[in-house]
Amino acid sequence: MTEPVKNEERKKVIFSAIQPSGTITLGNYLGALKNWIELQDNFNCIYALADLHTITVRQDPPTFRRHTLEAYALLLACGVDPKKSVFFIQSHVPTHAQLAWILDCYSQFGELQRMTQFKDKAAKHPDNVNAGLLTYPPLMAADILLYQADLVPVGVDQKQHLELTRTIAERFNGIYGQTFTVPDGYIPKQGAKIMSLQDPTRKMSKSDENANASIAVLDKPEDIMRKFKRAVTDSEACVRYGEGKDGVNNLMGIYACVTGKTNEEIEAEFDGKGYGDFKSAVGEAVAEHLRPIRERYEDYMKNRDYLEQCWGEGAEKACSISSRTLRKAMKKIGFLPPKSI
Ligand code: TYM
Repeated sequence: MTEPVKNEERKKVIFSAIQPSGTITLGNYLGALKNWIELQDNFNCIYALADLHTITVRQDPPTFRRHTLEAYALLLACGVDPKKSVFFIQSHVPTHAQLAWILDCYSQFGELQRMTQFKDKAAKHPDNVNAGLLTYPPLMAADILLYQADLVPVGVDQKQHLELTRTIAERFNGIYGQTFTVPDGYIPKQGAKIMSLQDPTRKMSKSDENANASIAVLDKPEDIMRKFKRAVTDSEACVRYGEGKDGVNNLMGIYACVTGKTNEEIEAEFDGKGYGDFKSAVGEAVAEHLRPIRERYEDYMKNRDYLEQCWGEGAEKACSISSRTLRKAMKKIGFLPPKSI
C-alpha cells in the first residue's frame, strides 16, 4: 500500500489581516477578503484581526471592543472557516508585539517616514503623530514573517508595506542567514482598488465621512441600491471602460467582481442602455452577493460563546506556530535563551 501523500507539508502558507477599525467595506471584501476565502481550500491560511494596528489612531474603548467583536463575526460570515484556517485576534498572540520590536531595530527611520500611509495618516491626525504610526510597517512585517508566509492577499494600498516587509526580511536574512521566508503579494486582477462612489479618484475607505461614498458589507439592500444610484459617473452616458471614466470604470470593476463577467460582456449587456439601468444592475448584484453574509452575521452575533471558542483556539494555534519563528530569530541575534528553551 502506498503511503498517503501529506499534502499539508507541501501547501504554501498564506497570511493576511484586516483592522477592526470600523465598518468593513465592499473595498475590503473585494480587494482582500474574497480572496482569503477562496484560498482556504488549497493553502495553509492564517488570518488575523490586526487590532494592535488599530490603536495608532485613538479609539473609544467600548466602540473599539464592539468593532473587534463585530469584525470577527463578520469575517466568519464572509466565509473564513476556523476548521480550515487559523483565525485569531492579533493582540491575543504576544509574539507579534515581540517580533515587531525586534524588526523596528532592523527598519530605517527614513524608509518608514517615506511610507505613503504614514504621510497620509500624519496629515489627517496632526495632533497624534505617534511613534506607532511610524512603526506600523514593522508590526505588519512581524505579522507576516512570524508565519513564514509565502503569499499575502491584499489590495493595492498595502503593496508598499509589503515591499518594505520584503526589504526587512531580506536585510535580516542577509545579516543572520535564512530566517524568514520572503513573501509575495497576492493582489487580485479585479477589485484590487475599489474607489469611492462619490469621488472615484480616491479609494473606498472605512473612514470616509460621506456615507454615500462607501458600501459596508453589512449595508441593507435598500441602502446599497440608493448609494449606487447616486454614484458619480460622467456625462457620456455610455457604459464602456476607458480613460477619464473613473466612476464607470469603478462600477464596472465592482460588477465584474460580483458577477464574474468580463468588461466586454458588461459593455455588451448595457449597450444602448443608460447609466440608470447600469447603476441599478450593479446595486442589485452587490446586494444579492452580500445578502447571505448579512444573514450569517446575525447568527454569529447571537452566539458569543462560539466566537470566543474560535478566537481562543485560533490564538493557541497562532502562538504555537509563531513562537517557533520568534525563538529562531532571537537565537540568531544572540539573545540568551530563557531556562525553558
Ligand atoms: P485594512 O484593514 O485597511 O484593509 C484590509 C484589506 O482590505 C484592502 N482594501 C481594499 N482593497 C480594494 N479596494 C479598497 N478600496 C480597499 N480598502 C482596503 C487592503 O488592501 C487590505 O488587504 N495594514 C493592513 C492590515 C494588516 C495586514 C497585516 C495586511 C495588518 N497586518 C499583514 C496583510 C498582512 C490594513 O490596515 O488593512
